[in-house]
Amino acid sequence: MKTVIFLGSPRKRGNTELLVNEIVKGIEGAGGTYSLIRLPEQDIHPCIGCGSCEKKGVCIFDDDMQNLYKMISESNRIIIASPIYFYNVTAQTKIFIDRCQALWSRKYVLKTPVGTTTDRCGYLVSVAATKGDRIFEGAALTARYVFDAMNCTYAGDLLVRGLDKRGAVAKRPDELQRAIDLGHKIASA
Ligand SMILES: Cc1cc2nc3c(=O)[nH]c(=O)nc-3n(C[C@H](O)[C@H](O)[C@H](O)COP(=O)(O)O)c2cc1C
Repeated sequence: MKTVIFLGSPRKRGNTELLVNEIVKGIEGAGGTYSLIRLPEQDIHPCIGCGSCEKKGVCIFDDDMQNLYKMISESNRIIIASPIYFYNVTAQTKIFIDRCQALWSRKYVLKTPVGTTTDRCGYLVSVAATKGDRIFEGAALTARYVFDAMNCTYAGDLLVRGLDKRGAVAKRPDELQRAIDLGHKIASA
């Protein structure tokens, strides 16, 4: 299994990052390999809806996203990890997701779906300060559709409510264990 993790929290050592660290332990424990991409550190131009990708299947912007398209294609486990900002993923994550329109165009317009691998699975990891029933609905729907554009099945998630202060998840050993278990499952599924 080859896993790529797209980490969309701008907060260093925050709750999303701590969960990702535990997922990585699970992946390594199962003998898997992974790459970690910190989206806030990437140079990704927002999609401008020019429609060029519908004709050629590639985006007009020659920025860091070009390397990320390659990683999406070559991996068969894709994790999007983002805290909830106003009921969805962070802006840094959404810019990345919108640029996956080029992958949607390849799949649905040009009929050449992305992916040099088979058995492609996507996972969402998210945290939120509040405990509302519907807090993850927006992010989950967004993730489901971008995973489809990536030619992946939405195969699972780790969604943790009630986390606000930086590093608060460190006091939730049950959630840290769930993260390790998810990493193990991802790398061995
Ligand atoms: C701009 C912004 C918007 C937020 N919006 C929500 C929200 O709609 N619902 C919620 O429960 N928490 C919201 N939060 C709280 C974060 O989801 C929470 O602090 C989370 O633990 C941050 O994760 P991180 O440590 O990985 O950055 C928001 C935080 C910020 C900074």
